[in-house]
Amino acid sequence: MRCSKKKKMSCEMVSLKKKKKKNKDGLGWIVWLRGCANVLQEVFLQRRMASHLHNPFPLPPLNHLTCIVTGSTSGIGSETARQLAEAGAHVVMAVRNTKAAHELILQWQTKWSASGKARLPLNIQVMELDLLSLDSVVRFGNAWNARLAPLHVLINNAGMFSMGGAQKFSKDGYEEHLQVNHLAPALLSLLLLPSLIRASRSRIINVNSVIHYVGFVDPSDLNIVSGKRKFSSLIGYSSSKLAQVMFNNVLSKRLPLETGISVVCLSPGVVQTNVNVETSNKVWEKTIELIGLPLDALQKIIQGEEVQCHYGFH
Ligand SMILES: NC(=O)c1ccc[n+]([C@@H]2O[C@H](COP(=O)([O-])OP(=O)(O)OC[C@H]3O[C@@H](n4cnc5c(N)ncnc54)[C@H](OP(=O)(O)O)[C@@H]3O)[C@@H](O)[C@H]2O)c1
Repeated sequence: MRCSKKKKMSCEMVSLKKKKKKNKDGLGWIVWLRGCANVLQEVFLQRRMASHLHNPFPLPPLNHLTCIVTGSTSGIGSETARQLAEAGAHVVMAVRNTKAAHELILQWQTKWSASGKARLPLNIQVMELDLLSLDSVVRFGNAWNARLAPLHVLINNAGMFSMGGAQKFSKDGYEEHLQVNHLAPALLSLLLLPSLIRASRSRIINVNSVIHYVGFVDPSDLNIVSGKRKFSSLIGYSSSKLAQVMFNNVLSKRLPLETGISVVCLSPGVVQTNVNVETSNKVWEKTIELIGLPLDALQKIIQGEEVQCHYGFH
């Protein structure tokens, strides 16, 4: 296309804007506004809107299930682990503070025995997992897969939001929100695929947040170090959550039906996603690179082949 000098400048500005838009992608404006409304609704109306729900929510017997719950030493994760175990599931608490997990199990077992409902003790164990270290994630994946046992549910619950905190990096060199909330759970999910496939039907559940609606991701700057965006803890948190939704959207589509694995992201409030497919694919590729796997890792893992991970052999 030909442009006069003025036109050329405006053409350049348009293409610059397009480039900018391509590099930094969030959700569309309508979804974004709807997301803001959801965030407000969750903050102000959640209690009222959830008042009809039973607490605790009654679970069916889950004796046939093995569930890994990351970050189960506090908050949502500890409640989830306890309730799953009380429903009969074999629960693995994947945590960095193993002492705290053992103390919790002791408390839960004591209450459970005293409740009069207990026929068997709770079936819970603890395994060490520090999401701030990708070596630790690979060690966990290898140790779990070595059991050659089926895994029915992986709950990627552990997360961090260092509200108002300065930008910090893990020893792997990644911004901490990005690593804990997105990269490490992504690596864990991929490494545990052989065990998830071993169960005839299984599920990866990512505890996300309604705040992902206001996140932006730039696949070429997931670490937020280029200076194009000023870092704040809210940007770090919301962007890591949006990257997780995008990555898992692609994972869910690329997993063949025969694997029997479903992948979901949930928010403790309402989650309705409408993510940009092009950016999602870029986020997928960039994530695979950052977590040290080859681009064909998913196919290889599904076919039962070994893959070389930069953070350890798997
Ligand atoms: N609470 C909310 O209102 C809310 C809203 C939306 C989404 N969420 C999401 O829900 C999930 C659970 O949050 P929560 O509110 O229950 O928070 P929480 O009480 O702070 O629990 C977070 C858990 O993650 C673990 N964790 C943090 N960094 C870790 C690391 N490097 N390696 C391994 N484990 C690590 C923590 O372990 P330590 O005890 O060792 O620190 C803790 O067990 C998060 O993904 C969060 O983003 C929460």
